[in-house]
Amino acid sequence: MTNRHPRPLGKSTVTVSPLGLGCWPLAGMTRSGITPAAAVATVAAAVDAGVTHFDTAYCYGENGESELAIAEAIRGRRADIVIASKCGIHWEPGRVQTVDGRPQRIRAEVEESLRRLDTDYVDLLYLHAPDPRIPIEESASELSRLMQAGKTRAVGASNVSVDQLQRFALNCPVSACQLHYNMLQREIEAEILPWCRDHSVAMIVYWPLMKGLLAGEMRRDQIFPTSDSRHKYPMFQGDEFQRNLDFVEAIRPVAARLGCDLSTLVLAWTTEQPGVSSVLFGATSPEQSWANAQAFECHLDEAARQAIASAVKARGTVASRKAV
Ligand SMILES: NC(=O)c1ccc[n+]([C@@H]2O[C@H](COP(=O)([O-])OP(=O)(O)OC[C@H]3O[C@@H](n4cnc5c(N)ncnc54)[C@H](OP(=O)(O)O)[C@@H]3O)[C@@H](O)[C@H]2O)c1
Repeated sequence: MTNRHPRPLGKSTVTVSPLGLGCWPLAGMTRSGITPAAAVATVAAAVDAGVTHFDTAYCYGENGESELAIAEAIRGRRADIVIASKCGIHWEPGRVQTVDGRPQRIRAEVEESLRRLDTDYVDLLYLHAPDPRIPIEESASELSRLMQAGKTRAVGASNVSVDQLQRFALNCPVSACQLHYNMLQREIEAEILPWCRDHSVAMIVYWPLMKGLLAGEMRRDQIFPTSDSRHKYPMFQGDEFQRNLDFVEAIRPVAARLGCDLSTLVLAWTTEQPGVSSVLFGATSPEQSWANAQAFECHLDEAARQAIASAVKARGTVASRKAV
């Protein structure tokens, strides 16, 4: 039995595989050292392993490195692939992340994304984050116009609150919401996940591996250089980091008993959480793509679920920080 069945993306005609490849790390901006060839091979390995959902954004790479890698890896297979991209964030010189959700900016970014992806349309287009300088209604209306123009089959919103999502939905049919979620960072369960379930909006989650920590290969004495953007996040710092690694050790025996890798267990658990439509895992090599896609075949039993729930409870509250 496998867990590959595509799931509906809200009320749209798009369906998504329960696991998607998140293509941010391929842009070499979490850490350097990812070559274009490795990026293409990582996407291709995911396709070969049965992943059909690929998540990228205009700002994944200073020059669209992630979108370019997807285009190269899926050449000749476009019809079988769901491409999700995002607009509304770009880099200013000096690698300054800039949120700009003005309609003309969104339009220009989408045209450039389509050129990089070598396609006429994406399957899902998100507003990457609300622009605090303009009403979200203005950005939403532009996404609606882009959908009417055939540039995307469905629209989503990322890094939004329930209030922002409601206002967005009044101005554009919304099929998906994208927020962070993993075993230890479960803020969405309180409000926005139930809202999405009640309103037929698919929840697509990022950071299922807690930016790599839950894959179980980090060392206790690991130092993240300033070139690795993870050094800025509290989950990788001091006592928080050590307690997160204690959690990893607590769930490692569960994976061992089920005969799977830790990352596989973590991803399989995430795909089975009620209301979660697709889980975006990042990868930096074909081997990671392949290993993570084994989650399609991993099934938790009740003892595994209970052991994970106990370990989460023992870990307690985790320091968090938003991506945007
Ligand atoms: N909407 C948003 O604002 C937003 C924000 C963040 C992310 N996202 C999306 O969500 C996706 C997932 O997030 P993420 O990539 O940041 O985090 P993640 O999936 O939690 O972690 C990915 C990282 O874990 C490590 N890893 C993956 N598989 C592994 C394995 N089998 N063994 C050991 N290490 C492994 C790799 O890093 P190393 O090899 O470097 O250790 C990889 O880059 C992104 O790629 C992006 O598409 C969206």
